[in-house]
Amino acid sequence: MEIRWSDSLILGVPTIDAQHRELVARVGTVVSAVDARPGDVGALLDFLGEYALSHFATEERLMGLHAYPESAASAHREAHQQFVRAFSGLRYDVDVEGMTRGIVDRIQKWMVGWLMEHILGMDHALAMWIRSAQVKGPPHAGTWLLPRADAIEVLAVAPRGSLARAGLKPGDFIVRVGGVTVAQLGVKVALGLLRDPVDGQVEVEFHPGADSAHLERRTVTRRRAAR
Ligand SMILES: [Fe+2]
Ligand SMILES: [Fe+2]
Repeated sequence: MEIRWSDSLILGVPTIDAQHRELVARVGTVVSAVDARPGDVGALLDFLGEYALSHFATEERLMGLHAYPESAASAHREAHQQFVRAFSGLRYDVDVEGMTRGIVDRIQKWMVGWLMEHILGMDHALAMWIRSAQVKGPPHAGTWLLPRADAIEVLAVAPRGSLARAGLKPGDFIVRVGGVTVAQLGVKVALGLLRDPVDGQVEVEFHPGADSAHLERRTVTRRRAAR
């Protein structure tokens, strides 16, 4: 797997974007060294690992500064730690085993794949939060919905907003909007329907408190229609 910076990786938070650009460059250097200068891979991994650690620390500091909801923050920190553990194992194995096929695969597939998936997933969610906090003031004042794989996680609800009035709470996982699964609708459409329901109201189904054994159904009504 090749890795090169592309504009599709821009998340809109300059500090994070600048660091990702550098991170992608360092990963790219390791990947090209695998064939061209295998003897340098260990040192280049050290150079990359050092930067990854300071980048993770920056993101984790931003989470605190912007009051990122703890459920999302702890999952994100755990993902960073998992990477650090796996990366340390890889670094050790490079010294012990040298550039075996397995090591090359871990560098080219696992490491590159992890970084791409992480930037476009968890980092993207964090960046959206930071950007929305900048636009709308303190995040806990408003409703915040986090796109997940096949659901939308409710991270915060505005006290008198439409979701709060429908009885949804932080921690709920919305899986259907208007009778259609979030997976089928796509997160963008589902969020649009929640914000601006067709005919002023829409039915949502959700797992309360992420409890997948229970499903509840409520009607979300737009404020104007409720009056
Ligand atoms: Fe991250
Ligand atoms: Fe990141």
